[in-house]
Amino acid sequence: MENLHPDLARILVPEETIQAHVQVLAHQISLDYADKGPIYLIGVLRGAFIFLADLARHLTVPHVVDFMSVSSYGKSTESGVVRIVLDLRESIERKNVIIVEDIVDSGKTLSYLYTMLEGRNPASLRTCTLVQKPKEVQLDVPIDYLGFKIPDVWVVGYGLDYADRHRTLPYIAELKASVYT
Ligand code: IMP
Ligand code: MG
Repeated sequence: MENLHPDLARILVPEETIQAHVQVLAHQISLDYADKGPIYLIGVLRGAFIFLADLARHLTVPHVVDFMSVSSYGKSTESGVVRIVLDLRESIERKNVIIVEDIVDSGKTLSYLYTMLEGRNPASLRTCTLVQKPKEVQLDVPIDYLGFKIPDVWVVGYGLDYADRHRTLPYIAELKASVYT
């Protein structure tokens, strides 16, 4: 393996595998939303910006791109209470909305966003995440489009970070536990 950063344990999902999954997701979304009018894609910053950029460029149906930024109180590898740091520019009332997330771990972030956006009366609301980690508790929000599941380890790359590092790696890699424990 060439020059894997010393923080990284191994490459979990190679670039080609990610890209193949992104294409499949975009194809599925394009089929589902054919003749439905533009999709309002909401990328959750900062993690989803690379995934959303690739996903959107493979869509064959009209779409609008917007972003939200949420922040959880707590340390960089813990999920906690969520608050909005940056809101949407436009109303989503009567629009077909898809929330685009990088990763779902406890599901708290997605659940918070879903409930909050549902209250703004979109025509439809779906969720799309590239990665999901296995959790014992049942999520209270549906994941309509899922790229793949990974083991319950901290991962970086393809938008995902650890303390803002390793975000722009083209693959998804497992962070060494010694880096975050
Ligand atoms: P949740 O609220 O527990 O589902 O956590 C979701 C958020 O935590 C994601 O949007 C990511 O920003 C972050 N996150 C969770 N697991 C990881 C990881 O393994 N690497 C990087 N970020 C992660
Ligand atoms: Mg995120």
